[in-house]
Amino acid sequence: MIINRLIVKNWRNFQHIDVPLRERQFIVGPNASGKSNLLDIFRFLRDITKAEGGGLQKAVSDRGGVSKIRCLSAGQAPEVSIEIHIADTPDAPATWRYSLGFRQADREHCQTHLTHERVWRDGERLLDRPDADDNEDPDRLIQTALEQNAANAKFREIGRFLRNVTYLHLVPQLIRFGDVIQGKVIEDDPFGQAFLERVASVHPNTRRARLKRIERTLKIAVPQFEKLEFIRDKIGRPHLRTRYSHWHPTEEGHCENQFSDGVLRLIGLLWSLLESDSIILLEEPELSLNIGIVSKLAPLFARIPRIHQCQVFVSTHSSTLLTEPCIDGTEVLLLTPEKTGTSVKVSSDIEDIRILLENEFTVGEVVLSRTRPKDTAGVSLIQ
Ligand SMILES: Nc1ncnc2c1ncn2[C@@H]1O[C@H](COP(=O)(O)OP(=O)(O)OP(=O)(O)O)[C@@H](O)[C@H]1O
Ligand SMILES: [Mg+2]
Repeated sequence: MIINRLIVKNWRNFQHIDVPLRERQFIVGPNASGKSNLLDIFRFLRDITKAEGGGLQKAVSDRGGVSKIRCLSAGQAPEVSIEIHIADTPDAPATWRYSLGFRQADREHCQTHLTHERVWRDGERLLDRPDADDNEDPDRLIQTALEQNAANAKFREIGRFLRNVTYLHLVPQLIRFGDVIQGKVIEDDPFGQAFLERVASVHPNTRRARLKRIERTLKIAVPQFEKLEFIRDKIGRPHLRTRYSHWHPTEEGHCENQFSDGVLRLIGLLWSLLESDSIILLEEPELSLNIGIVSKLAPLFARIPRIHQCQVFVSTHSSTLLTEPCIDGTEVLLLTPEKTGTSVKVSSDIEDIRILLENEFTVGEVVLSRTRPKDTAGVSLIQ
């Protein structure tokens, strides 16, 4: 299943979004145009459905409350709303539609109140809140039906799907200096701090198979790379260990604290892709990687959804990543900051982009040039 349409009102710097979505979706735009904010919509839905410590109140308060989420250019409109269409393929009619609206109840009580919650299956409406029970007891409106097992029996599949959304913005230093930092791991580990525990927690056969596949890729991507293995140290802590072919045969190998940034990020990226069976959100996967590898990421992001039936969202600034001729204009969302908020458009819906793409220009050439600030000359002249 994938989300094949997203309709949003007043979320962060977006007043209105209504876009179809593909299995592989690139998100491009200038700095601070809202790429991460857009990815956060899917994380927000996941946070509502989380089995432990989830729910609407927590998802909103983790983001600083409705006042931080609601678009600052929204004027008087108090409501934030999100609607997703879930289908088997990008062009299929939606099997599920889930729509949610919420607002801050009042200034005194920081609670978030649902303004609506609706669910459809194959066009038939299964839920339409507020309903008679909500009208009788308005306190019910602080919880979505989606987060309550007692209320979501008819559409639990949506919760199961959203709960598996994963987000990766791996920060190599957090893995490398994990022992020194000994910090609290942020919930859901967006920066890969607990990546090794994640690797350790899967069945040994699955782990071995995944690491073998990653090893094969690393052998191609990294000169003289020979071996990747999972080990535990004397006190049982998990580690990854690599070996390079030019080392003396008696050398044991290096553990993750000596891996290069690129190798760590590539391992994290490949592991997440192999692990995912729902939606995977990748922030700037090109960071630290050689352009030869970056140029091969787009085909990889196309292949993985076919094998695992998942959907990949990628925020990027990389023209190399988008130079791949197989990327279709419908797979790229272009974010453009405007007076009343950022607009989100499917790149091939923009006439001049579509014409250039039809004339064999690549998305990297055509779309990314639109995201460049108008006057960059002054950047070198910090005053
Ligand atoms: N409620 C809100 N209303 C309006 N703007 C908001 C709101 N919340 C956050 N923003 C703005 O969103 C911007 C950050 O967006 P985001 O981090 O998604 O950008 P990005 O495209 O990922 O940028 P980068 O390429 O630098 O990572 C900031 O400028 C912030 O002020
Ligand atoms: Mg960002």
